[in-house]
Amino acid sequence: MRVIPAGAPESFAEALGLLQRGEAIAVPTETVYGLAADATHGEAIAKIFAAKGRPSFNPLICHVPDLAMAERLAVLSPLARHLADAFWPGPLTIVCPLIEGSPIHPLATAGLDTVGLRAPRGVLAKLATALGQPIAAPSANASGRVSPTNAARVATDLGDRIPLILDGGDAPVGVESTIIRPFEDHILLLRPGGIAREAIESVSGLPVRSVASGSAISAPGQLSSHYAPAGRVRLDARHVEPGECLIAFGSALPAGADRAKAIRTLSASCDLEEAAANLFAALAAFDRPDIDRIAVMPIPEDGLGEAINDRLRRAAAPRG
Ligand code: TXA
Ligand code: MG
Repeated sequence: MRVIPAGAPESFAEALGLLQRGEAIAVPTETVYGLAADATHGEAIAKIFAAKGRPSFNPLICHVPDLAMAERLAVLSPLARHLADAFWPGPLTIVCPLIEGSPIHPLATAGLDTVGLRAPRGVLAKLATALGQPIAAPSANASGRVSPTNAARVATDLGDRIPLILDGGDAPVGVESTIIRPFEDHILLLRPGGIAREAIESVSGLPVRSVASGSAISAPGQLSSHYAPAGRVRLDARHVEPGECLIAFGSALPAGADRAKAIRTLSASCDLEEAAANLFAALAAFDRPDIDRIAVMPIPEDGLGEAINDRLRRAAAPRG
């Protein structure tokens, strides 16, 4: 495995060559690093699942440079187009019905008749343009591990299983994209993420409804224990117990913080965007054999807090 800077022209050529030959490589996006392959190429997609060690073939998000490529793949309703106009490029994935004869390989959609489409910012979009095809990319972590927000984390998880990692530094958003499915009179929120629910409501003028957890229509593959570090995670902690590490929010630390084994602060100024950007790095830093308990301070549920709390609840969920 090679790690090369995402910005260099020869890096781009090497990455494109590997994608054209049907390889899966790690690429930075504004949300998290993705494990990218040509979405029309079955063997390339199989390499994604093999490298991640996924327990099953979950549908993958397909990345496009723009609306024009999206419309070659799927049917975008006027509402879907309006949302794409407002939020692309950016961390919004829109689930749309496939067009008849869509070139996306069924392994990428897990055989569904819909596809999750997203136009990311940066090098992944440029690669899709140069490839002339959509790029399927789940987060570039091994199955069950936290999503990587930097190249070193990808290397730890997948380094021996993939040929190339493009290093684009820290992912600025730090949580995955928001996944929605637009309907006539409402929008279903399949996964909270980098675009806040309130922003989608205000742009669309429609209610954004959550999917009840455990519902058959929730994003397939959203295993409840998914973003889990090795140790037990205790949420809404208003004090620190002996032996615990602390994930802090705000500058006022809870009782007992002075005896925490270690402290990572998501945002000292209670900025939820800063907290989202730091979340996975904090979970990853505490994902160590010598850390068996992690306390997390309460985080407000508004704005990106909804996505942060969703990931934290998964990290704290009982292990299957
Ligand atoms: O920010 C992101 O979304 C990152 C970057 C790399 O783009 N990608 C990412 O992919 O988080 P992944 O595979 O870790 O999560 C994708 C989620 C899965 O839970 C899957 O169930 C859901 O998207 N999904 C994909 N296609 C879908 C579809 N047609 N219907 C419902 N859910 C879908
Ligand atoms: Mg993932």
